[in-house]
Formats: sequence, C-alpha cells, structure tokens
Amino acid sequence: MARPLRLGFLASHNGSNMQALIDACKTGRLEARPSVVISNNSESGALARARQEGIPACHLSGHTHPGPGVLDQAICATLTHHQVEVVCLAGYMKRLGPQTLATFRGRVLNIHPALLPKFGGEGYYGQAVHQAVLEAGEKESGPTVHLVDEQYDHGPVLAQARVLVLEGDTPATLAARVLAQEHRLYAETLQRIAMGEIVLEGLKR
Ligand code: GRF
Repeated sequence: MARPLRLGFLASHNGSNMQALIDACKTGRLEARPSVVISNNSESGALARARQEGIPACHLSGHTHPGPGVLDQAICATLTHHQVEVVCLAGYMKRLGPQTLATFRGRVLNIHPALLPKFGGEGYYGQAVHQAVLEAGEKESGPTVHLVDEQYDHGPVLAQARVLVLEGDTPATLAARVLAQEHRLYAETLQRIAMGEIVLEGLKR
C-alpha cells in the first residue's frame, strides 16, 4: 500500500465535508492523512473540529496577514510546511492567491453543491445554489468535485453524483440531500486519487 496521501484543508464555516474526509481517513476508506486545517474564520466549526481531532489548525486571514500577497504567502508556506500533497477546499469562501495556486497547480480540489458547469461561479454559494436549481425547474442536481483554477467553480470536473429534485423540495431539503452525497463523493474521489485511479498532474507519488 502506498503511503497515505497528505491532505490540507481550507474551510470557512461548518466543515462537515472536511469532517467526512477525516472520518473516512479514520476508518481506512480513504488512505490519506489530514495534515493541516486553515480557516479565514477564527470562529469556524472547521477550526473547532480540527482542534478536537488533534489536527494542526491555523487561522489565516486578511486580518492576521494584511497586505497584498502576504496572506497568499502564509497559506502557501503553511501547506508546504505540513508537506501537503493535495489541497481540499471544503466550503472555503475566499479565492486562493497566485503563489498557492502555482505551487499546488493541479492538486487543489473543491466540492460544489451543483452539477457544474451549471449553477456555479460568483454568487453561487450556500442556499442560493439550490434556490437557482429549483427556480430553473431542474429535474436533478448533485455535487461536483473539480480541480481549482483562478476562476470560481471553473476547473476540470473530476466526479459528479446525481440527486433527484423532488416535488415540494425547498432549498433546505435539496441542500441536505446533496450534502449527504457530497460527503460520500469527496471521500471516494480522493481515494481514487490515492489509488492512482485518477491521476493528478503535479502530484508526485
Ligand atoms: C458545501 O455545500 C460545499 O459544496 C460548498 O460549501 C459547503 C460547505 O459545507 N463548497 P460544509 O462546511 O462542508 O458543511
């Protein structure tokens, strides 16, 4: 068995996707090791969960690191220090800077709660995504795991899962069913990367 893939997380809020990945590592469903958690939000559930799990937890934001490029450099240095191989965005509400993107090019993943390229981009986050899906009269929705580039919700798609839209769905009920699939899909996709079934350019194993 190859050595566990070292994962770094960036998350702004609850961190339930991050937790699902940590849990998958614990049970061995995901042959990876959560190595560091970074959040721009000092009060985030993600940082609390990381501390609870004994994973290094860092609050790095425009407040802790003001000035152009300084935060980007700190994020990049933190990920590098913890020997992160794959960066997992998990509800991270900020754009990554050029240094981090260049250093981890092709090794940064995000999960989005809709079937990209539909319902993605600036403004499509939280319940607004599911609201738009319902307003468009879509018959199905579901999460997308994709590679991250300079634009929001834009890089190549690695995996998607389908969730039927049900009659009477509200943004909240649809979000809950999609979220359950996010947790499963993110762990499965990372395990496929760990096994070499999905090959990431730039990931040396
Ligand atoms: C998820 O819906 C994810 O798709 C989106 O942000 C949300 C994060 O939720 N990018 P959580 O913090 O993982 O619970």
